[in-house]
Amino acid sequence: MPAPCVARILSESRAVEWLYPLVVCPACHSELTMDAERITPSRCTGCDRVYPWLGHIPVLVEQEAPDPALLSLAQVWNGAAPSWSRNLSKPAKVLAAAETPLLSMASGIVLEVGCGDGRLFPAYETRGLRAIGLDFSAVMLQMASDGGFPLVLADAHRIPLRKGCVDTVLVPFATIRYLDYQVFFKETFRVLKPGGVFGFIAWNAAYNGIRAWLRHRVGSWRTGRDVARLKEILVPLAESGFDLVEIHGVFSAPRWSPWRHSLAWRVKGMTAARMARDIVVIARRR
Ligand SMILES: C[S@@+](CC[C@H](N)C(=O)[O-])C[C@H]1O[C@@H](n2cnc3c(N)ncnc32)[C@H](O)[C@@H]1O
Ligand SMILES: [Zn+2]
Repeated sequence: MPAPCVARILSESRAVEWLYPLVVCPACHSELTMDAERITPSRCTGCDRVYPWLGHIPVLVEQEAPDPALLSLAQVWNGAAPSWSRNLSKPAKVLAAAETPLLSMASGIVLEVGCGDGRLFPAYETRGLRAIGLDFSAVMLQMASDGGFPLVLADAHRIPLRKGCVDTVLVPFATIRYLDYQVFFKETFRVLKPGGVFGFIAWNAAYNGIRAWLRHRVGSWRTGRDVARLKEILVPLAESGFDLVEIHGVFSAPRWSPWRHSLAWRVKGMTAARMARDIVVIARRR
């Protein structure tokens, strides 16, 4: 087993080998000059935008005129990162019930959108998948940086990868609730190879109480919103060029019960998805 710093250098050099050729400017999709030594900022060969480094992580978000809403959302996640990471060890069984179908459909190069602290990286490693972790929170990415997979700091609505370069896009743990479906599904279509798999988990608004219902009525993806009717996700999915492969509902013990972290079961089909707490969607790019 190599020492931690050696392991880090090895994983960074693996990232140079296979991530950098896939990376493009998030604004215009032109090639970037990527300094393998990560000293000089990357420069877009099309629009001349400049992108800095955060250690070995390329920061591929607009620098000159950053979107203030995006910056404040990223700040919220930066603040939440340590407690988020600590608390996630508990609901492991509940998470596994929802995530198993996503992991079993994944193949080749997997882009995990909103990878957080890299919780799923060991599962990718075990399955022999090559993952890219994308997140806009620098603190989350720093926690993920020992996970052995390349990372990019970017906004999910502007994925800095070239057209048709990944086999699978996964969005676990309801991160989809913070994304604009129309924009994000189109970006996912662009970066996936034809026939590529797109899997995500959404939450059913009915199961998240009055606050979720209100968020659904008056909120937006910026505040996080859940799904009240399946067509809210299935229609934009189909319109963005995806065919539905599987849909599941995941039921779990109520929050107040002593079994809340350990009791969960999954049922396939639309009816279960309409009634369950978590909705697992697996689609294929046309
Ligand atoms: C609910 S956490 C999930 C983390 C991880 N996938 C897991 O299952 O443990 C949501 C993650 O998505 C990231 N995120 C939210 N909106 C994003 C966006 N527009 N672009 C990139 N990352 C985003 C947050 O920073 C956070 O790390
Ligand atoms: Zn550009």
